[in-house]
Amino acid sequence: MRFTLHTYGCQMNVRDSEAVSALLAAAGHTPVSHEIEADLIIVNSCSVRGKAEDKALGKLGLLCASKRERPDRIVGVMGCMAQRLGPDIFNRVPGLDFSVGTRRCGAIPYLVSRVLAGETGLLETSSPDEVPDVPDAHAESGFSAFVTILLGCNRRCAYCIVPDVRGTEYSRPAREILAEVAALARNGIREVTLLGQSVMNYGRTNPVWDGSDALSPGGYAEPFARLLEAVAALPGIARIRFTSGHPSGCTDSLVRAMRSLPQICHHLHLPVQSGSDRILSLMRRGYSRADYLDAVRRLRTAMPDFALTTDVIVGFPGESEADFEATRTLMDEADFDNAFIFKYSPRPGTPAAAMADDVSEAEKMRRNQVLLEDQDLRGIAANRRLVGSLQEVLVEGPSLRNTSRWSGRSPGNKIVIFDPPAGLQPGSVAAVRITRAAPQTLYGDVVP
Ligand code: SAH
Ligand code: SF4
Ligand code: F3S
Repeated sequence: MRFTLHTYGCQMNVRDSEAVSALLAAAGHTPVSHEIEADLIIVNSCSVRGKAEDKALGKLGLLCASKRERPDRIVGVMGCMAQRLGPDIFNRVPGLDFSVGTRRCGAIPYLVSRVLAGETGLLETSSPDEVPDVPDAHAESGFSAFVTILLGCNRRCAYCIVPDVRGTEYSRPAREILAEVAALARNGIREVTLLGQSVMNYGRTNPVWDGSDALSPGGYAEPFARLLEAVAALPGIARIRFTSGHPSGCTDSLVRAMRSLPQICHHLHLPVQSGSDRILSLMRRGYSRADYLDAVRRLRTAMPDFALTTDVIVGFPGESEADFEATRTLMDEADFDNAFIFKYSPRPGTPAAAMADDVSEAEKMRRNQVLLEDQDLRGIAANRRLVGSLQEVLVEGPSLRNTSRWSGRSPGNKIVIFDPPAGLQPGSVAAVRITRAAPQTLYGDVVP
């Protein structure tokens, strides 16, 4: 069948969609880029905010309605909302052919074959703590790939649905991850991003290294730092990123690994959520404002070129004007390169859903806007400071806007535009002297 996937949500979902694409292609189906050409359409859903679910449900409704004109079409859903709603999804989306939870996406080719044989309404969800079967198939083009290393989450922040829909933490065995990355490198991938909700927890909840717990060659005892060192040792991998971080994971050994392994990009996505200690504690984030800023200070001291991005929630229950101001000042002190701001959305069954959602929608909107404006100024200033610096850019090829110029990404994950000198190959790492900064983009010249 000709198939396509619509993906909502975070990189975890992007990675799962990609694995499902590769599995479907291996089963003889053909990927197409336009929905109109597709006979099999899968929505990979997100539950993190109410709006994310509304989008996926709206899309599924339209797709199932399209089956009236195209009765041979198969429509399925996967991901976090599929896991959360269980059998109820079939009441919400009449005509849906299958629904697959977060730890079972590897079953999709088999479910498709059953639908082709005449079945419908197939449900495949998992219990929250079953050991997942993680597909290692990849289908990306380009030079970067996501690799899931840690599934689920045990933190249970008060507002968050992710632990319910992604299950308890499970760290994949290191040898499995290393084999997957080595295979990617053989296929031309130069950059991997290691994924986990609280990625620095890797190996803290189940053993991941075979045999001994001896120190690694570089003297690392922590499983995550050991993994970084082992990935960096694989031939062909020029760059390593990982997301998302948590201040408690920013240990001395992680900071040392980041500073001393040249493949690791000096960038972290370290969601802070709030700058108010009172709100951080209600959120059950497990750190204070001072802890967060201390982690940032240690990272910046070790790496003068360190880039920092974050997530912030505005309008958490009880967030006062003073709490909000604390977030504003924290964001100035931490000096983020980029920030994603979200309006609080109560999620069914989470501890915060039992608190009054007492910040009005208009006020959430206002706080969101204020933080966005602050961040725009901060982001421009951060980019301007890079003018004159030399950035190691992973060359992607012709830029989308103007194909005579090429683009790539800096270690801080900024888009860099430059004129390609003769002989420059996509997938190489080029030194680019930055000459000009725009809010979202850097411009520069390749230095031989
Ligand atoms: N595991 C990541 C976050 C995953 S969810 C971490 O802990 O760092 C991505 C972001 O969505 C979160 O960082 C948070 O800012 C936001 N988010 C999560 N639940 C939310 C909710 N109920 N309402 C609004 N934003 C939320
Ligand atoms: Fe959600 Fe917190 Fe886990 Fe992140 S660490 S996924 S915010 S519970
Ligand atoms: Fe959404 Fe699931 Fe990611 S809820 S943010 S897709 S883990």
